[in-house]
Amino acid sequence: MSNKISRRHLLKAGALLAGGLPFAGILPEQGQASPLSLHRANDLITPGTLLTEKEIALHAPIELKARLFANENPFGPSDKAKKAIQEALPKSYQYPFMFLKDLSGKIADHEGVKEENILMASGSSPLLMAAAICFSRPGGNIITGDPSYEDLPSKAVRFNEKWVKVPLTADYKLDLDAMERSIDGNTGLVYVCNPNNPTATVVDTDRLRAFCERVSKRVTVFVDEAYIDYLDDPAGTTLVSGIKAGQNIIVARTFSKLYGFAGLRVGYIMAQPDMIKKLSDYTEGPMSISATSLQAAIASYQDTEFLQGALKKTIASRDYLYEVLKKEGYSYIPSSANFVLFPIKMDGPQFADEMMKRSVGVRHWKLNNKDYCRVSIGRMDEMEAFAAAFKELS
Ligand SMILES: Cc1ncc(COP(=O)(O)O)c(C=O)c1O
Repeated sequence: MSNKISRRHLLKAGALLAGGLPFAGILPEQGQASPLSLHRANDLITPGTLLTEKEIALHAPIELKARLFANENPFGPSDKAKKAIQEALPKSYQYPFMFLKDLSGKIADHEGVKEENILMASGSSPLLMAAAICFSRPGGNIITGDPSYEDLPSKAVRFNEKWVKVPLTADYKLDLDAMERSIDGNTGLVYVCNPNNPTATVVDTDRLRAFCERVSKRVTVFVDEAYIDYLDDPAGTTLVSGIKAGQNIIVARTFSKLYGFAGLRVGYIMAQPDMIKKLSDYTEGPMSISATSLQAAIASYQDTEFLQGALKKTIASRDYLYEVLKKEGYSYIPSSANFVLFPIKMDGPQFADEMMKRSVGVRHWKLNNKDYCRVSIGRMDEMEAFAAAFKELS
């Protein structure tokens, strides 16, 4: 198969996977599932296994008392973003070429990088997908924490990459030393999710910087900073400094979290220009962003008043959740993001099902053979709905 043909096939595969459609010939067909149950028997998922946000969303009732399974930000998008969408509508019959430069220019200015260091797309997922395709090769492996965000490695596995999962430290953080020790001659990519999903923990910034400096000389490091805006000092924590220093790292960001754009779909990566060119071959990139979303992103980028307001409300809801958990005799992993992971006293799938029956959507997790719940931080009324349902089960 020529490179051209294989790339076209891979892109087609990417589009199908991103759209959640069955990938004929590679993935088994998805079966039909009951809309009322989170347990479903089909070819792809065995009953009781971990479901993704997308799978829960597809099977949950549309209206829930509390939608706490997808780490969205219900305080967004900002008023400026909504106004920009309305104003953009009349001319949305036009391709959005002219706005692409506006957004990448703003990001470049703010981050202190060049526009050729940036690749945008409709959310960061298509860019994770591009990296999964680009770095997968026969006999290759990808290293991640365990548990961590599974999107990129789970897609790489579909392209025959081996997934090396490195357990977290006792305090639920990425074990950078063990990840570094796991690198071998076949490693194509090390994926670092910071803050990590599902634990909402962060690694020490100096240690991560030193790690990236060393490791990027051997393999590409992919740092997923989807939740960095929830930290006290995002600018002091980001690994963009490594890109400016010429390191072989990719930093991914998304507007889906603190900006509240999960449904609008805007994300980007920053990397060395040759890496940006390489990854561009595997994604539609900026032309996959709608004119309305693009203008909403331009209007609300670095809108500190909105961002700080959303952060404040998130922290108030998170503090409320901590109190509920403490009162019910549960421990939790202190969170640096808009979700909290805590151990539960019930079988995970059963717990998520019982919560869903009470119109509260959460995710369950298995960690060190114990059951955990990951609950996203929502509005206060959603956290109260969570508390009421949770009290009935605890
Ligand atoms: C760590 C992490 N990275 C990337 C994403 C993908 O986000 P999006 O495609 O909406 O930008 C998510 C979504 O939940 C995430 O948790």
